[in-house]
Amino acid sequence: MDMKQRIAELVSEMLHAAYPDAQGLPEDIASLLEVPPEKSMGDYAFPCFKLSKALRMGPPMIAKKLSEVADKPDVARVECVGGYLNFFVNRENFARDLLSAIMQAPEKWGSSEEGKGKTVCLDYSSINIAKRFHLGHLSTTVIGNALKRIYDFQGWKTVGINHLGDWGTQFGKMICAYKKWGDKEAVEQGGVDEMTRLYVRFHEEAEKDPAIEDEGRAWFKRIEDGDEEAMAIFQWFKEVTLRDAMKVYDLLGVSFDSYAGESFYVDKTDRVVNELKEKNMLIESDGALIVDLEEEKMPPCIVIKSDGTTIYATRDLAAIFYRKDTYNFDKCLYVVAYQQDLHFRQIFKVVEKMGYDWAKEGLTHVAFGMVSYEGQAMATRKGHVVYLEDLLQRSQEKALAIINEKSPNLENKEQVAKEVGVGAIIYTTLQNNRIKDIDFWWDRALNFEGETGPYVQYTHARCCSLLRKAPADLPAPDYAALTNDEAQALLLLLSRFPEAVSESCQRNEPFLITRATTEIAKAYNKFYYEHRILDEDQAGTAARIQLTQAVSQVIKTGLYLIGVSAPERM
Ligand code: ARG
Repeated sequence: MDMKQRIAELVSEMLHAAYPDAQGLPEDIASLLEVPPEKSMGDYAFPCFKLSKALRMGPPMIAKKLSEVADKPDVARVECVGGYLNFFVNRENFARDLLSAIMQAPEKWGSSEEGKGKTVCLDYSSINIAKRFHLGHLSTTVIGNALKRIYDFQGWKTVGINHLGDWGTQFGKMICAYKKWGDKEAVEQGGVDEMTRLYVRFHEEAEKDPAIEDEGRAWFKRIEDGDEEAMAIFQWFKEVTLRDAMKVYDLLGVSFDSYAGESFYVDKTDRVVNELKEKNMLIESDGALIVDLEEEKMPPCIVIKSDGTTIYATRDLAAIFYRKDTYNFDKCLYVVAYQQDLHFRQIFKVVEKMGYDWAKEGLTHVAFGMVSYEGQAMATRKGHVVYLEDLLQRSQEKALAIINEKSPNLENKEQVAKEVGVGAIIYTTLQNNRIKDIDFWWDRALNFEGETGPYVQYTHARCCSLLRKAPADLPAPDYAALTNDEAQALLLLLSRFPEAVSESCQRNEPFLITRATTEIAKAYNKFYYEHRILDEDQAGTAARIQLTQAVSQVIKTGLYLIGVSAPERM
């Protein structure tokens, strides 16, 4: 139901009717359509200049001839002015056709089957064991979750993967410290904070007594060998970390289909290492085994370190083949900070050089910029760390204070404050294109005016309130009530929503949906301020209510796709 497309089809029909034997006519008419500078010249214009060569006729003649064959089309009135055909959209029909199309299956508006039969793996959030969930992991979690919903909505089969950072010598040290100075209860209670304390203690003690380093290494060796005691403690550290992370995931409404992290791939690295050897791609360099990428102007990809162990990249290579075998993905997306750009370019290139063509199109690094907080960059070492749990907690408290002030009588205020507070943070994260750095400010995120989560949610709640108030026995809608400029602008945005979703999926850019949804909310409010929705004329009211229904559903869908809930009352 894209108006531009409909007009393009009309032009195409007119061309074929007027010039049945013409050769060399343009294929993509929609791209030739223009939007005239003034409304009095129509909603769309088709310039006939490009046809004059193929038709051997002056543009004004062509325009005239085309306008003659246009026999009262129902989409638009046609006028010819010089070499242009101007189209005045039939506003009433546009409103009727679009709203009937949306109302057929409102929750599906914007969905498609583009991904039918295809599978996408999404690697996102991918937190590190024994580390607190901080602001730095917000974008990957929120972008990944949104993309998963968007791909689902476009008909893809999706596999959400939390590629846990759960391998490395630090875990040996942590276990060593736990055995020496740790306490079960303290870890259960303190979680990641207690593990960090143990880790710090390990380094302090090792300064005094370097022999402790060897003990740490020995514990890591025991993990590598699958020793029962080491594995049990390691496993328990993982559970405790995930238990805390789960609180954040629950609040954000984020879920995964797999938690297979780095440790899962350690015993699966042989396969890729052997294949690299067979293909003569491994070179020895200072005792390490590397894949040379000089031709590609990149530093070499280390596969096996000089001590014989694997690295992050090796485990990622193993993961690629495991995922390809297990899920047979068409695409595998890595929602990871821009800082890891080189890492991904290297491993993708290695797979490509191994002769796997699917690496080119199939493996994508979905990079994003940095997050700072009220003007301060996140710096773990300098101690300026913002924990996600605290951020979400504060956001809910602040939202509750605003709601207490604005709607003191609202029922289940806490629940709404949760949806608004969490929604504000997600919205802020998905407001601009990924690569742009984000500076997070409370006043901006929680403002009920302007381009914010609460503003869009509030518009949805406004729609719901009107729908509750609407009389139940309305007559058939009179779409003449929707021919005004405000309603038409809104209808146009609704008609383009499916395009926004599709483009957002193709470009892995959730912000396109944030933007489309916000524009709809803004246009609805404009319409609402200029026109009474519930008025005397029942048939007009019916049309405005139907438009309200469509808007409320499309906003709800848009918010859902970016991972934000849409409360019905605020
Ligand atoms: N755990 C890593 C980090 O926090 C991100 C892992 C991303 N995924 C991957 N397959 N490498 O930086």
